[in-house]
Amino acid sequence: MQDQIIQFLKKSDSYLSGEEISRSLNVSRAGIWKYIQELREDGYDIVAVPHLGYRLLSCPDKLLPREIGYVLGTKVMGRHVHSHDAVSSTMDEAFRLGLQGAEEGTVVIAESQTKGRGRLGRSWVSPKGKGLYFSVILRPRLNPMDVPKLTLLCAVALREAVAASTGVQAAIKWPNDLLVNGRKLAGILTELNAEVERVKFVVVGFGINVNTSAAHLPPHSTSVTLESGQSAARVAVLQEVLRRLERWYFQASSEGFEAVLNKWKELSATIGRRVRISDSGGTVEGEALDLASDGGLVIRSDAGTLIKKMSGDVVQIG
Ligand code: BTN
Repeated sequence: MQDQIIQFLKKSDSYLSGEEISRSLNVSRAGIWKYIQELREDGYDIVAVPHLGYRLLSCPDKLLPREIGYVLGTKVMGRHVHSHDAVSSTMDEAFRLGLQGAEEGTVVIAESQTKGRGRLGRSWVSPKGKGLYFSVILRPRLNPMDVPKLTLLCAVALREAVAASTGVQAAIKWPNDLLVNGRKLAGILTELNAEVERVKFVVVGFGINVNTSAAHLPPHSTSVTLESGQSAARVAVLQEVLRRLERWYFQASSEGFEAVLNKWKELSATIGRRVRISDSGGTVEGEALDLASDGGLVIRSDAGTLIKKMSGDVVQIG
């Protein structure tokens, strides 16, 4: 009911009488008053003027499902949103839902994480109410070997969405970090539940430093606010990520990953650079030459050999 009241108030550019709302929603005026009180407790600034009615002045900067779903316009991504104040990691929560059969596109989002995690066993600093920390459940018809390309797709969607919603132009460091002037703005973590030849579901976790101040960021990181000088509406950024993700995902499902890989190369901060890449096999230095068709990074090592890496930690050294 609160969702419907908010929709009414958002659509109206003047006061809406309690009587009008109560008639449209078939709820008593006392009932409407109670719901308005609850909405105020959620942080909506709603004025009530005798003889005129109610008017919405502002919405809270909170990751509420009703705000996320409003004018989202996607078919799959974000149609179901599980919103939390605090969780250990949205990855764990999404994985649990994935095992229970949650639909593709289900989003788990939190205002803060106590054990946010990143790639390669790192942690992801998740201060309350500042960034976006969310995981999306996907059920692609893919062989597990093709999942790296899905991760690149998510990086492209994220890069485009951040630019469109905030104006901050980031570049993608292989495989899926967003950097601005060499500082990390956002990262993606992909975890999967699979049989040897079939993916059951994938959980893609997005961490975006949105309104995070320098004091709350780890070294070599940045945020949308620090780059643009303005705070950004987190819900708008999230909605744009979900829209772009859906567009690229549907396209790749029907036409394959070629367009994704081409776009990734266009937005890359890695190709053409000198890099040092470390994985369990050791460390190699050389020039990042290209993105392979399976999403791997092709490097010409300083010893002159061509190497393809499917995972690892890249440091750009030139
Ligand atoms: C990385 O750059 O290493 C990936 C960072 C991914 C962080 C996000 S925040 C939401 C989701 N929950 C987590 O615990 N991690 C991902």
